[in-house]
Amino acid sequence: MSKTIPAVRGMNDLTPDASATWQQVEAELRATIEGYGYRELRFPILERTELFARSIGDATDIVEKEMYSFEDRNGESLTLRPEGTASCVRAGLANGLLHNQTPRLWYHGPMFRHERPQQGRYRQFHQFGVEAFGMPGPDVDAEVILLAARLWRRLGLDGIALEINTLGTPAARAAYRARLVKYFEVHRGSLDEGAQRRLATNPLRLLDSKDPALAPLIAAAPDLHADLDAESRAHFDGLRALLDAAGAAYRVEPRLVRGLDYYTHTVFEFVTDRLGAQDAICSGGRYDGLVEQLGGSPTPAVGWALGLERVVALVEAQGRVRPPPPVDLFVATLGERAELAAAGLIERLRDALPQARIVVNRGGGGMKAQLKRADRSGARFALLLGDDELDAGSAALKPLRSDAAQLPIPFAELATALAARLANRT
Ligand code: HAM
Repeated sequence: MSKTIPAVRGMNDLTPDASATWQQVEAELRATIEGYGYRELRFPILERTELFARSIGDATDIVEKEMYSFEDRNGESLTLRPEGTASCVRAGLANGLLHNQTPRLWYHGPMFRHERPQQGRYRQFHQFGVEAFGMPGPDVDAEVILLAARLWRRLGLDGIALEINTLGTPAARAAYRARLVKYFEVHRGSLDEGAQRRLATNPLRLLDSKDPALAPLIAAAPDLHADLDAESRAHFDGLRALLDAAGAAYRVEPRLVRGLDYYTHTVFEFVTDRLGAQDAICSGGRYDGLVEQLGGSPTPAVGWALGLERVVALVEAQGRVRPPPPVDLFVATLGERAELAAAGLIERLRDALPQARIVVNRGGGGMKAQLKRADRSGARFALLLGDDELDAGSAALKPLRSDAAQLPIPFAELATALAARLANRT
């Protein structure tokens, strides 16, 4: 035997049991998001590298060291998408969805970042995201936040807290950046090499450093909120008023800055203390400059993305997994005549009951072995067909999950009889 080939580090398979849970969560997310009028946009997993460099920012962790980039056979630099917002804007522009319109869009799928894998952090992970374009006010910031909060309720999750902050207008953000640089320059001696580099490239990120040695310095750093301009303050106050009015609990977290460069005004994160170090399950914010930066006309926008692995982990940890629907019918046949007769019968049954889950015995075997497989399949009923049944023009319907008796059902009545039993859940 040759050696088996392991999966790529940080990339996971989903067994059928696991994907049953994922499907359940995905169905809930999709229904809730579409219930707010968001429509799905699908875009490729590969994009030109420059798309991410120009949007997420050259000096971010993602672009500096986490992207899966390579040259294709034409020598063009391509990248496996590390997130969806940049692609969503690109695809929105390419398809004329953003100009003079206010589309609400959502997407889902795998994203790729070459991070150090650990529980809750993977190199291929999956996001669901929403993005709303063309609406400048805090009303739509509140909408996307309340939509996310509703998702947790629909999934039956608790222990999730909302943190919000504002980075202000681009001008306010730039002024704050300058003040931060000045402040940290004075304390340059206390910064390690990484932090010094960060100071030069992306000083805001120093604020969410997890390095305990930096904690006192960060605690005493200038506060953006202290001198926000009127426009920035009005936007943030507007958001808070709407969240208050909707009864949403949140915490203002002045050090929340996010790891991507495109944010302006509102930023937020839903965090949980139930998953260990990887505590952010859904993050986002407003990015009013990005559409223009990527070649469109100035278009305000706001959105978020959630990490599906983390949401599913919470659903599992909190016992919110529902058992998947069982197989309805397992068909067992004995003998060649019965097998041939069953072929037509099963086709007619599937035509009549397109929703039914019907598993047919394959690979032969005696009746005892087939009934064992029927039991293992979790099926509610077995349909037994042998020479005796064929001669009588009927098949035997055997309940597998109750003590009810096995009954002969004429072929012509099978679909109706089965439909009635499946509807009754008996
Ligand atoms: P992000 O914070 O980079 O934002 O990612 C969003 C979410 O994806 C995180 O809160 C986390 O749940 C999940 N996530 C990120 N990296 C990993 C990983 N390596 N393994 C597992 N889960 C992960 C964005 O991607 C922005 N595009 C969000 C956004 C949309 N902002 C505006 N619109």
